[in-house]
Formats: sequence, structure tokens, C-alpha cells
Amino acid sequence: MTTAGDAVWWQRGVIYQIYPRSFQDSNGDGIGDLEGIRRRLPYLRWLGVDAIWISPFYPSPMADFGYDVADYCNIDRIFGSLADFDHLMADAHIAGLKVILDFVPNHTSDRHPWFEESRHSIDNPKRNWYIWRDPKPDGGPPNNWYSHFGGPAWTFDPNTGQYYCHLFLREQPDLNWRNADVRAAMHGVLRFWLDRGVDGFRVDVMSHLIKDEALRDNPPNPAWREGRPDIERLLQIHSGDRPEVHDVVAELRALTEEYDDRVLIGEIYLPIERLMAYYGRDLRGAHLPFNFHLLLAQWDARNIERLIAEYDAAVPPGGWPNWVLGNHDQHRIASRIGAAQTRVAALLLLTLRGTPTLYYGDELGMPDGTIPPEAVHDPWEKNEPGRGFGRDPERTPMQWTADPGAGFSEGRPWLPLAEGWQTRNVASEMDAPRSLLRLYRALIALRRETPALSIGSFRLVPAEGNLLAYDRAAADDTLRIVLNLGAEPADAPTAPGGTVIFSSSGARTDEHVGASTALAGGEGLIVRLGG
Ligand code: GLC
Repeated sequence: MTTAGDAVWWQRGVIYQIYPRSFQDSNGDGIGDLEGIRRRLPYLRWLGVDAIWISPFYPSPMADFGYDVADYCNIDRIFGSLADFDHLMADAHIAGLKVILDFVPNHTSDRHPWFEESRHSIDNPKRNWYIWRDPKPDGGPPNNWYSHFGGPAWTFDPNTGQYYCHLFLREQPDLNWRNADVRAAMHGVLRFWLDRGVDGFRVDVMSHLIKDEALRDNPPNPAWREGRPDIERLLQIHSGDRPEVHDVVAELRALTEEYDDRVLIGEIYLPIERLMAYYGRDLRGAHLPFNFHLLLAQWDARNIERLIAEYDAAVPPGGWPNWVLGNHDQHRIASRIGAAQTRVAALLLLTLRGTPTLYYGDELGMPDGTIPPEAVHDPWEKNEPGRGFGRDPERTPMQWTADPGAGFSEGRPWLPLAEGWQTRNVASEMDAPRSLLRLYRALIALRRETPALSIGSFRLVPAEGNLLAYDRAAADDTLRIVLNLGAEPADAPTAPGGTVIFSSSGARTDEHVGASTALAGGEGLIVRLGG
């Protein structure tokens, strides 16, 4: 079993995701930048997180807001320069914060020089760096795959008479990871950043890196229904999650481990049993294959309990679990489950066994923004409009103060501020002892000083109705967490001799409990069981 002594930072710590366009603007152009992040390091230190993962800031035409990379080893002018990056990283390290970069290996921008060469001619040395195929005899695309953002995953290039594959936008051609030269070039990219001192990578769409060698058609998805995105019409069994991908991931892991104390995280949207394969054979895969199941689950105690049990049982021996409540691709937790449940969600994220990842602004309870049609940026919304797939709502600027621009920018923010920013912001929540921000900060501090919470064992406790209950234990310290995921009061299973050490309302600390304890709707407690 892991003990406090041998757990490493990415097991003990809390990861905080920053979407750089939206965190802090330092030059008044309405778009966040690296210098802005640097200036906000004192806040992150105050909040108590251990690591920041920064979404892409590389030179990019911004067709997918940085997930279309035109140069892996530089910084887009919008975000600053390599000197700004070095400054940010040095100051983050001085503040005791690790820095995790977003590595986007599945595709480049169509403006990346590699693709410009590749599309130039069929015999170009870089042709085989991407996935090119002849049209079907009828002139159509080589297979039936969809792009994640709607429409086919193939675009015809009249210049050479072939199609190229893109699982995302046509401006994001997929690299051919079966090609050793591509692998070598991308390994060089990782080394570039590791040599600069970064502490790890979050690997974009890890499970898609290798496609079926014969590019077979994907079969129809019998569960698809009207209203769901095009991409879900087919089961993506040939366009991703191929067995050979694990060799690619093992290579990335091996390279990461040439450096001390780094972490490799994989973005993987797969059912639990498929997700587990990304820990790798003999745990030679990702340290943390992102667990997005809380992001996608219906907020129902029995459902969440089932998913926790299934996940906990599936993590391979020696593998480290992790939990995510929000990210830049999913609607905000406060909007998904409602403000009344955000305190319970915070308790859940920070008391489950496994590394928590917190999305910027969720600690304030930021809701999804309302994006009028003329303010839409996200290409998915543009391709499949009005169906709720757009990701701008969860990317609105961080709310720092009640000043114009919410303290995010002195210019006009690139996306509108989410409703309620005048009162829901860092300045006002810092001053309010019962704010969600204060709750997050206190929970993060408690987790840091309590081995039972950070690295302790986990056991579900039977509960009914809207209640969720579990124990965390390390050495002779056992904590019982009870959460009410409903709006009605309910009696939670506790134990005589227990003492409340943390309560979501802030009001019940030091209370002694018996065999059961009344919880208000949306209330959660951490109880130290008497020994
Ligand atoms: C990942 C990113 C998402 C991006 C896509 C294509 O899912 O999280 O934002 O659009 O990959 O790179």
C-alpha cells in the first residue's frame, strides 16, 4: 500500500487546469496570456493546488483554439514568448507549483510546415507523415469515419487527388504514428520541453493515435439517437483504441522517465474497462489515464456509487486512480448539477481516492456562460449549431473582481463573462467565509495534511436514497465521508464516537455524531471515526 512517504507529487497533489485564453490577460487584448498566469501564481499558491496544467499555447491559426498546432516548440504571439514561458515556469517552481503542458500529438495544424510539405506531392518525403488515401471508386472518402466536430473525417485535396484523414477539423490533419520518423520528431518535441524543466504532459486524445491499419469502416452505434453528435453515429472501434497504441504510449512513458519525477497523463474518453488498458502492460503506460466518468455521469447517488465502485475495482494493482469534475470540453459542473450541489461535488472530488483535477473557475462555482450567436467561437458549435455541443460556455473568462472585465482584462474579453460575475469572483469569495472558494481552499489544505484523504485506502459504505458514504483510512486514522446528493434532508450512516472535522456548510465542525447523522439537502460531512 502507498504510504505518505513514498507517494509522489502527482499522487498526493491537486492538479489545476488553466485554459490560457481565459485565465488572465496582461496586455489588454482581451485574451489571456502566459504573463497573466505568472501574475496569478500567488492566487494558486493561496488556493493550495500542487500543479497547473496549461491548455495549448503553441503557435496556431486557432481553428481549434490552440489544439491545432503549427509549431510544437514555440509560443503563439497571443500568449507571449519562450522567455515569458521560462519566466512563468521559474516562478511557478519557486512557488512550489509543478507545470504540466498539453501535448497534442494526434494531429497538427494544416499550416504546420510538415503538413504543407506533405500535401505538396505524393512523393514528398513527408507524405507518409500524415494519412493519405485514394478516393473510393465512386470518388468518395476512403471510409465512413466521422470527424468529432461533425462531417466526414476525410478531406479531398485536389492538388494530389487524395484524401487526408482528420478525426477533428479539416484544419487538423492526423499524423501517422505508424511512421517511425513521426515518432522520432514528436519525441524530440517532448525532450525540448522536458529539457526546459516541465514536469509532465497531458496527452491530447491519446487513444486515437493509432488507427486501424486497413482503415476499416466503423460499425453503426445501435445506441445513437437523434440529438446526439454525428461522431456517435458509429462505434469508433477502428478509428481509435487500437491495441498498437499501447506501444506508442509506452514509448512516451519511457521517454518521460528518462527525466526525474515527471508525469504522463492521457486524455481518454472510454468506458472504464477500456480505460484501464492505458495504465499499460506492467504499468508502462500513462501514470494517469484521465478518468472522466464523473464529468459524464448523471448526478444520482446510486449511479455515482456504482461508478466509483466499478472504477475503484478496475484500477490495476499499483496503478493510481484520478478524478475530474470539469474541463474545457464539458459544460461546467455548476450548470450540470446546479449551484446547490457544488459544495457536495467539491467534497467528493477532494475526498475520493485518486488525484483530483480542478478546472479553473469551478472553485468559484462559475456557471456556463451564455454565448450570443455573434460571440460564438468554438468550431464545433459552428459546425453543428444550436444543439448544445459548443464549448464556449465553459471557457468564459476567469472572474477575479467586480471591476469591468472582471479583473481578467482591461480590454474586451474574447468571450462574454458568465452571468453573476459581479458577485461571484475571487475578490468577493475570498472575503466571504462560507463561499465555495473558501470551501475549496479549506478542503485542499485538509487533504494535504491528512494522509487518509490523500493516499489512504477507500471503502464504500452502504447508503440509501440520495446519500453517498465511504471511508478513507491511513494508519490508525479513519474518516467517514457522507454526502447528500439530494435536495431533501436525509439521515446518513455515521458511527457513535465520531467527530465532524469538516462540514460543507462550515457550521458543524467538532460536532459529535451517533449511528446516524441528519444531513440537510446538499450537505456533506467528513467525520473522524472514534478509535
Ligand atoms: C481534445 C481537446 C479538445 C480538442 C480536441 C482536438 O479533446 O481537449 O479541446 O478540441 O482534443 O485536439
